[in-house]
Amino acid sequence: MAFTVKNFHVFLLVLLPLLVSCDEKQVYIVYLGEHSGEKTHNEIEENHYSYLFSVKETVEDAKSSLLYSYKSSINGFAALLTPDEASKLSEIEEVLSVLRSQSTKYSLQTTRSWEFSGLQQGGTGFQLKKDLLLESSYGRNVIVGMLDSGIWPESKSFSDEGMGPYPSSWKGICQSGDEFNSSNCNMKIIGARYYIKGYEAQYGPLDRTLDSLSPRDKDGHGTHTASTVGGRRVQNVSALGGFARGTASGGAPLVRLAIYKVCWAIPDQGKEEGNTCFMEDILAAMDDAIGDGVDVLSMSIGTNRPVPFHEDSIAIGALHAIKKNIVVACSAGNSGPAPATLSNTAPWIITVGASSIDRKFLAPIVLGNGMKIEGQTITPYNLEKKMYQLVYAAQIVNADVPKDTSGQCLPGSLSPEAAKGKIVLCLRGNGTRLNKGLEVKRAGGIGFILGNRREDGVIPPVDAHFLPATGVNYENALKILNYINSTKTPMAYIVPATTELDSKPAPFMASFTSRGPSPVSPNILKPDITAPGLFILAAWSEASSLTKLANDPRMVKYNILSGTSMSCPHIGAASALLKAIHPTWSSAAIRSALITTAELNDNLGNPITDEFGKTADPFQFGSGHFRPTKAADPGLVYDASYTDYLLFLCSIGITNLDSSFKCPIKPPSPSNLNYPSLAIPELNGTTTVERKVTNVGGSKSVYFIKVKPPPGFLVTVSPSILIFNQVGETKTFTITVKASSVNKGMEKDKYAFGWYTWFDGIHSVQSPIAVSLA
Ligand SMILES: *[C@@H]1O[C@H](CO)[C@@H](O)[C@H](O)[C@H]1NC(C)=O
Ligand SMILES: *[C@@H]1O[C@H](CO)[C@@H](O)[C@H](O)[C@H]1NC(C)=O
Ligand SMILES: *[C@@H]1O[C@H](CO)[C@@H](O)[C@H](O)[C@H]1NC(C)=O
Ligand SMILES: *[C@@H]1O[C@H](CO)[C@@H](O)[C@H](O)[C@H]1NC(C)=O
Ligand SMILES: *[C@@H]1O[C@H](CO)[C@@H](O)[C@H](O)[C@H]1NC(C)=O
Repeated sequence: MAFTVKNFHVFLLVLLPLLVSCDEKQVYIVYLGEHSGEKTHNEIEENHYSYLFSVKETVEDAKSSLLYSYKSSINGFAALLTPDEASKLSEIEEVLSVLRSQSTKYSLQTTRSWEFSGLQQGGTGFQLKKDLLLESSYGRNVIVGMLDSGIWPESKSFSDEGMGPYPSSWKGICQSGDEFNSSNCNMKIIGARYYIKGYEAQYGPLDRTLDSLSPRDKDGHGTHTASTVGGRRVQNVSALGGFARGTASGGAPLVRLAIYKVCWAIPDQGKEEGNTCFMEDILAAMDDAIGDGVDVLSMSIGTNRPVPFHEDSIAIGALHAIKKNIVVACSAGNSGPAPATLSNTAPWIITVGASSIDRKFLAPIVLGNGMKIEGQTITPYNLEKKMYQLVYAAQIVNADVPKDTSGQCLPGSLSPEAAKGKIVLCLRGNGTRLNKGLEVKRAGGIGFILGNRREDGVIPPVDAHFLPATGVNYENALKILNYINSTKTPMAYIVPATTELDSKPAPFMASFTSRGPSPVSPNILKPDITAPGLFILAAWSEASSLTKLANDPRMVKYNILSGTSMSCPHIGAASALLKAIHPTWSSAAIRSALITTAELNDNLGNPITDEFGKTADPFQFGSGHFRPTKAADPGLVYDASYTDYLLFLCSIGITNLDSSFKCPIKPPSPSNLNYPSLAIPELNGTTTVERKVTNVGGSKSVYFIKVKPPPGFLVTVSPSILIFNQVGETKTFTITVKASSVNKGMEKDKYAFGWYTWFDGIHSVQSPIAVSLA
């Protein structure tokens, strides 16, 4: 084959690492876009080799350097290349981009190092109305692909009892490996594969005491997310200590699960410190999932920084997926509360933030003066009922401990003589929360109270400690400190924890949930939606302890976790149910249905708040908290096609994702993508965007517009009435946003929020607006 060399570069193809010597090999993804014409897998692989032959000295070298040949939908390959070879490949006309594997790091998005551990779901957390489940047959004919740390197939949550055969369209496989063979797949787990070539190219062969070279989950995360999407109803389960007892169930309990293990334990690092997922492994899994025939992809994986869409393997893979109408739900990230911290912001992905449910794990403290202080914990140990001496850690530290961290119970800081038999109050700060409890235990303390500092917010830290314990917010930590100061003989008792349901307010936003605006494309309002991600109970791997700590002997079948990793599979499940009810809907229509029907109020009827009790905004929750039952009948949808996304990409200057598409000379404004929300960064004067809605409700309907403009802006929608005579009919309208004179003083980069809603008396089709001034 002849390679034509480009004579100019339209865009930066690859940032070559400056510090790498010229012959040092690294993994690169060579991206070729779409497969053209019908080619056999052999022909595709031959084609990929031919690129390698053109830069490698020997045929052997070319053959051994190929890691993956992407054959299903994505056209491209991953190979070990020198920077020089990568550069040469990027000069070839057909090559759209060359991405260096390690340029972007991906990991699973549970909370960082247990900084936000604990969680709950299942039992009472996520109950769908029975009629929606029935209408969708509980998702029986829908296949959800999970890209994660694998699966613990023995969990009761993955029983296939009574499930019947899976759809005949399924082409996936059950890949054998360590402690995993085809007997581990069933009518619930219908496929399981693993992807490790990128990982091994970086770290060498997997340490098989650390993780299984197979789809088996030795971490817990993949089992947790898979059971949140599609776990069967299992009665009377709870976390260790009986917390959150109830019936565990995934959102779509009869959905079929296809497991793609792409995230692995990191060598020489504890599992609790996190894991890693390589972009070439992720892309290979997504390509296979598309070819295998999944309907939905749920990916609780994200990057540690914002990544442009054409350098992000999740965005690239998802673009191929939505072409086949596969819905892709991804976690928004756990980098909040700072603004502009989102990952997975491509407009063809559903980006999911995390919020609470209406459950607390109450373990109050009774002080010697009779005062009762609210605390929360999921620690499964109780004190014998009597009063104990209470001390503040700073009062009992060893002499050499610096003053600024003396209250923080850092390892080795407490004096055993002084701590023995007492309840010790420690403050958050440096060190992990669990280790602070371990330090109290090491020093002989009998109980542990962990207090927030001012910056830690009003939600107490909820963890599974190693001794009787509870967590308190800053205000309550101060009350305890004042009490300790007020008496010569401070005493306290920690009341055994109980699970309280129907707590109010709920939901509120988790402080860790990543915030908008989207750093990569501020013209798309992200996240899209929020779902439960705080203290979620779901199935767990029996090869991983409760805390993932290697020295924690507590093994559990169900565990409580927090993170946008936990909220994403809720949306994965809801998407699967919608797919079952509306099999012909596009992924954009399903996302639109979820977005426009979301809830803005909490269970007190007030606007959803953040963890400080302040009103939250669309940069935290998108359009609000998901309501799957409403989403099944949204009335109108904002649809978008693959071509619409390519046009959007043209408008933000990305032209190297599909070479068969030629950008128009004057692309539309990026705000014009037919998205069910509206973001206008840096508005200068006035702007007008267009939207198109499709009637999916009753055949004859009349919709009226209601607008709540962002403060300081005028919003007009035209026309203000839409009349539909049949299902499937589309209507176009414009939205004009004008800065009014009153907001002259508004700061640059500061956003104002509003809403516009189409209403026909039954359906309320609501879209958030975010706008900032130039
Ligand atoms: C899978 O492994 C189990 C346990 O080792 C074994 O009993 C079973 O026969 C194996 N199944 C297949 C299909 O090899
Ligand atoms: C649930 O399990 C607990 C302990 O595992 C047991 O004590 C209790 O009786 C069970 N409840 C029901 C309703 O089966
Ligand atoms: C954490 O430790 C660092 C280094 O010892 C110190 O500078 C910092 O003040 C500590 N942070 C807190 C919150 O105590
Ligand atoms: C407790 O008393 C100490 C010493 O008098 C003082 O420095 C500290 O600020 C007091 N703490 C509180 C919470 O009142
Ligand atoms: C806003 O638009 C006006 C008129 O086109 C232009 O003169 C001005 O520089 C723009 N302001 C900003 C901040 O872009």
